[in-house]
Amino acid sequence: MKLWGGRFEKETDHLVDDFHSSISFDQRLYRQDIEGSISHATMLGTTGIISREDMDAIVQGLKEIRQDIAAGKVHFEVDAEDIHMNIEKLLTERIGDAGKRLHTGRSRNDQVALDCRMYVKASAEEAREMLAHLVETLLKLAESHLTTIMPGYTHLQKAQPITLAHHLMAYVSMFLRDMQRMKEVYSHADVMPLGSGALATTTYPLDRQMVASLLGFSAISENSIDGVADRDFVCDYLYAAAMVMQHLSRFSEEIILWSTNEFRFVTLDDAYSTGSSIMPQKKNPDMAELIRGKTGRAYGDLMSLLTTMKGIPMAYNKDMQEDKEALFDARDTLIKSLAVFTPMIATCTFHEDTLYRGASGGFTNATDAADYLVKKGMPFRDAHAVIGHLVLACIRENKGILDLSLEELQSFSPLFGPDVYEACSLETCVSERKLPGGPAKESVIAAIQHARETLASFSS
Ligand code: ARG
Repeated sequence: MKLWGGRFEKETDHLVDDFHSSISFDQRLYRQDIEGSISHATMLGTTGIISREDMDAIVQGLKEIRQDIAAGKVHFEVDAEDIHMNIEKLLTERIGDAGKRLHTGRSRNDQVALDCRMYVKASAEEAREMLAHLVETLLKLAESHLTTIMPGYTHLQKAQPITLAHHLMAYVSMFLRDMQRMKEVYSHADVMPLGSGALATTTYPLDRQMVASLLGFSAISENSIDGVADRDFVCDYLYAAAMVMQHLSRFSEEIILWSTNEFRFVTLDDAYSTGSSIMPQKKNPDMAELIRGKTGRAYGDLMSLLTTMKGIPMAYNKDMQEDKEALFDARDTLIKSLAVFTPMIATCTFHEDTLYRGASGGFTNATDAADYLVKKGMPFRDAHAVIGHLVLACIRENKGILDLSLEELQSFSPLFGPDVYEACSLETCVSERKLPGGPAKESVIAAIQHARETLASFSS
């Protein structure tokens, strides 16, 4: 008979068991479920709601079940529906009547909310640690490429020269924000819902605060209906995960592009590339492509739960069981992507010569040529037009701006002097952009320093 079978005269159809059972996926919550139950039972025993003997038997029994599950010795039953009832059933089989007292003053509705909150807290921490590792990797890489000049792009058209360090630091900024988001996800999940009961609390004098502190929660939920109906905290995680994936995906796209024969900016390590079954020469950036592809899954997980939640009335409804597969899938996608992306970036080789050559084509110093004329007294809009004409002439002759002689340059503006060659060199274009946030070496060094401080502030 089912744990809830008292008021039923018939068994459920086997199709029903199969359809609504969640044990195939929610068994991954067994640690959270057992930890939550140990704290609940400890509180029940300490407050005298159940006897101390029952409390001890329950706690001992749950610990043994935990060991057995970890050792793969437990067979879960589809009939017992979910992880919560599977564990309660096992406990009662093992310790008898005391096991039947565990669920006093509790509902699966607040129990599952608790388990999910614990899982989200752990997952947010895990993601934050992996992001910290990625940021550290990028900071080291940036430090070794402070003067590696490369083209910066807008519209994927060459725009202005930057350094590889500056480009990498853009991603550092993104991933540091992702770490902050994961920290906020953690604090939204850090609210203990037990005591909400099915939806309207319970008449037992539970000590909710005790359970919260036993489980390391910093607050208890303030409304019992919200306590069981809220899945915002899961959506928060899904959004934060989707955003990390977006950042990884954009970075992956650049790695894919840069490792083409057309760009030749980077070579991936063999350990993070794959070959072709027919074309012997191929070395493909499959890991980066998969991360880009899996970003779609992570977005899907977020959209899936947002949509599931949008029309459900208060309080718990079974629809909400759909939160878990989205959560687990997003978590696995994120963790696996981070796990492969960080060493892939750490081991790739950037080609300083092609990066430099890339920056010297495409008139990346045109803005600086215009600024040169401005510094000699010409209004910016006029200087823009003069350099525009100059670029057009250069395109026709297949030359760069600084390939022209001083006389040729002066035919466009008499303000050009011999100092233009130095003023518009790639090195000067970069070194003069020393505003905070810019590509000049000293600005990037300051940015790296600041990023390290931000990183350290997460662990303090
Ligand atoms: N397996 C359920 C879930 O994941 C647990 C809560 C079930 N509650 C209920 N009243 N049926 O949401």
